[in-house]
Amino acid sequence: YGCRGGLIALQVGVVAFLASAWMHNHPEEAVLGPVLPEAADGRKRVVILGTGWGATSLVKSLDPREYEVVIVSPRNYFLFTPLLPSCTVGTLEHRSIMESIRYITRHKQGRFRFVEGECTKIDPENKKVIVQDKSELHGATTESELKYDYLVIGVGAETATFGIPGVKEHACFLKEIWDAKKIRSRLSSCIESAAFSGQDPKEQERLLHMVVVGGGPTGVEYAGELYDYLDEDLRKWYPEIADKFRITLIEAHNNVLASFSKELISYTESTFKDNKINVRTQSVVKGVSPTEVTIKNPQGEIETLPYGLLVWAAGNTARPVVRDLMAKFPELQTCRRGLSVDDKLRMLGADNIFVLGDASASKYAPTAQVANQQGKYLAKVLSKVVNAEDPSKALQDIKPFEYTHNGSLAYIGSEKAIADLPLFGSNYSTSGPMTYLFWKSAYLSNLFSVRNASLVLLDWTKKFAFGRDIARE
Ligand code: FAD
Ligand code: NAI
Repeated sequence: YGCRGGLIALQVGVVAFLASAWMHNHPEEAVLGPVLPEAADGRKRVVILGTGWGATSLVKSLDPREYEVVIVSPRNYFLFTPLLPSCTVGTLEHRSIMESIRYITRHKQGRFRFVEGECTKIDPENKKVIVQDKSELHGATTESELKYDYLVIGVGAETATFGIPGVKEHACFLKEIWDAKKIRSRLSSCIESAAFSGQDPKEQERLLHMVVVGGGPTGVEYAGELYDYLDEDLRKWYPEIADKFRITLIEAHNNVLASFSKELISYTESTFKDNKINVRTQSVVKGVSPTEVTIKNPQGEIETLPYGLLVWAAGNTARPVVRDLMAKFPELQTCRRGLSVDDKLRMLGADNIFVLGDASASKYAPTAQVANQQGKYLAKVLSKVVNAEDPSKALQDIKPFEYTHNGSLAYIGSEKAIADLPLFGSNYSTSGPMTYLFWKSAYLSNLFSVRNASLVLLDWTKKFAFGRDIARE
């Protein structure tokens, strides 16, 4: 029976795989129900800015037969950010965590329109946005106007530099796919140059010093991936220089991972100590040159550290388009983190604008989990107001947005992860190799498509069998 059961499961699996591949290659056939006429049929227009966690979650839940939906974003894909640090060293290939927005919306009844461009201005008075096509194909930037009935701002945030000199020019950020590609390429340059025959020992030492600024989850996960690269690949392919490779993590506060429990902070710091990752807490970066980073150490002294690669992960700040909109409401929009909203995610001061994810300033942390839940909630809100005579009255019948925390997870290198999980009203902290397996399975099951999950699985298997691909990007 077991054998026959296995055979049946195999057949079902093959049929499911073929069906999924067919749907993938025939997106038109995959559209269920009638394709409704475009615009001009009286449907109100909702313009959604962004294709990140918040916007994509909204798009997945929204019924485009109720609205004419126009998505505007400079990138035509969704990015699964939790696995982005893995792309910096080649544990994963970057395409494995990207999903085209058209692929994501292919099963929807009706249609979504997608415009690849950057919204540079929001005009709440005239209910329109300005969109720029910044494609390198044209000599000049093309600009157009887009009217909306409802606007959803899901443009995320950018990395804060706090105006520290040299950061923008010389550091690498870790937010977008092109950041990860840049880091991977620079890492390769540093290593090849350090391995160049006759390289000056002092220069070699500089090139092999990797500095990470910011001990939040982004900086910690990146440092962990970098350690894996050193341990599993560098030692094998470049044994002559591997021992000179150093990782330093600089954090302004007393400890790393301020949002995690004390137990997990100690576990991370002791794992980093074992892996010879030099964690420098209470040290604040004051300036960055092409080859050195200047810090103020706990004793108040100024120190300069030569580096080969500097990754800057010092937190979030509002994007220019968001700051520009905030300036139009100086009395209501006073939070520097982003746009203040009411409990239904409506922007304070503008009834027809909703804000979700990192672009908003709410009581919640700027995480994918929050943005994802806000997207689902907003779909319900929009569906309720669509045909209402008085949208403000219709909103009163909707429960305020409430976030459910499903736990915090982070990978810290050497096949160890940490997790703070809510359990029966209290917090359960777990760490180590088993938590790493949990981390893997949690992210695998959260990937937006079977296609992405298959690619990530394949990358992990490839890395296990052959090691990372160390060829330059
Ligand atoms: P984003 O997902 O950043 O999306 C913003 C979108 O807006 C993008 O499509 C962008 O192209 C578009 N956009 C930008 N400017 C414009 C414009 N002017 N006009 C139109 N569109 C624009 N959170 C977790 O909960 N768990 C994790 O494990 C986790 N890991 C992370 C790892 C890394 C390396 C990083 C950087 C973040 C991680 N986060 C994690 C945080 C999480 O990624 C963010 O909180 C989440 O992406 C916020 O979603 P969002 O939709 O607000 O913004
Ligand atoms: P963060 O804001 O969490 O951490 C930034 C760190 O940089 C802070 O600890 C800050 O003290 C430090 N810093 C700032 N300026 C500095 C300076 N000049 N010198 C030295 N240190 C300086 O930012 P991060 O890690 O990018 O995370 C952003 C958001 O994304 C957070 O809400 C986080 O929870 C979420 N995230 C979650 C992940 C996860 O759950 N695994 C992974 C990555 C991000």
